[in-house]
Amino acid sequence: MDISVDSGLQNKIEELAAHVRSSRYLVAFSGAGISTESGIPDFRGPGGIWKKMRPIEISEFLGDPAARREYWRRKIEMYPSMKKAQPNEAHLALARMYKAGFLKTVITQNIDGLHQRSGIPDDRVIELHGSNAYIHCLSCKKRFEWKDIFPNFDEGDSCPQCDECGGWLKPATISFGQAMPEEATRLAFEKACRADILLVIGSSLLVYPAASIPAETRQAGGSVVIVNNEPTVQDSLADAVLLGLSGEILKELADMALD
Ligand code: APR
Repeated sequence: MDISVDSGLQNKIEELAAHVRSSRYLVAFSGAGISTESGIPDFRGPGGIWKKMRPIEISEFLGDPAARREYWRRKIEMYPSMKKAQPNEAHLALARMYKAGFLKTVITQNIDGLHQRSGIPDDRVIELHGSNAYIHCLSCKKRFEWKDIFPNFDEGDSCPQCDECGGWLKPATISFGQAMPEEATRLAFEKACRADILLVIGSSLLVYPAASIPAETRQAGGSVVIVNNEPTVQDSLADAVLLGLSGEILKELADMALD
């Protein structure tokens, strides 16, 4: 029993564990907060990325060479920490609940691949905002690996272009203003409707359409449980809110659900 979790929270976790055990279709919905304990900063939390700089929209990336270079500078700065990041207790707890047959699918807003690295199969992780695992051409979608692009870039250079069609290369993530991946979005909403429990972990629930996933579950009759280290704008709509660190809470939850 993890004594660092206070008794009120402990009771909530115990109750949730019982619901997990009897759940029919448990779905997890994660945001950047689940990865901060792996050393990857979130966006709007206390040390968040958008507290230090503003996002570069896709229209700026395409239309402004300076913005495009700044986008790549940031990506290259972040790349080593994202590449060496390991799944933390929260990711591992979800993987345990998947392997035990409770967790059916993870819908994630994250691009770090840590759910897959924790042992959840690729086809059970829906990446709503794309993936930083590879680079592609924005025009012809040809795929490139980081190792083939990364060494050739420094701040002075022009940004990488496709060797097939000359289009701009960009990591396969979704920037503001960029179209959401159709199939991933369709599948995410389908799973959200099927869920009898949607476990929302480490998201400020401020960015749409992803932030409307909990409403999908609720409207289809499912329950929404929020795990976050600060209040969110959707707490009043949730069936339960567990305030604290996702690593601690989810480890405790998996320990109890699998006990
Ligand atoms: N445990 C629990 N909650 C945490 C932890 C933690 N260890 N660390 C951070 N959090 C909380 C933060 O307090 C914040 O409320 O997780 C939430 C993360 O919110 P955001 O930074 O807004 O991340 P997210 O909701 O995933 O953002 C959605 O916005 O910028 C875009 O594309 C980006 O996918 C991202 C989207």
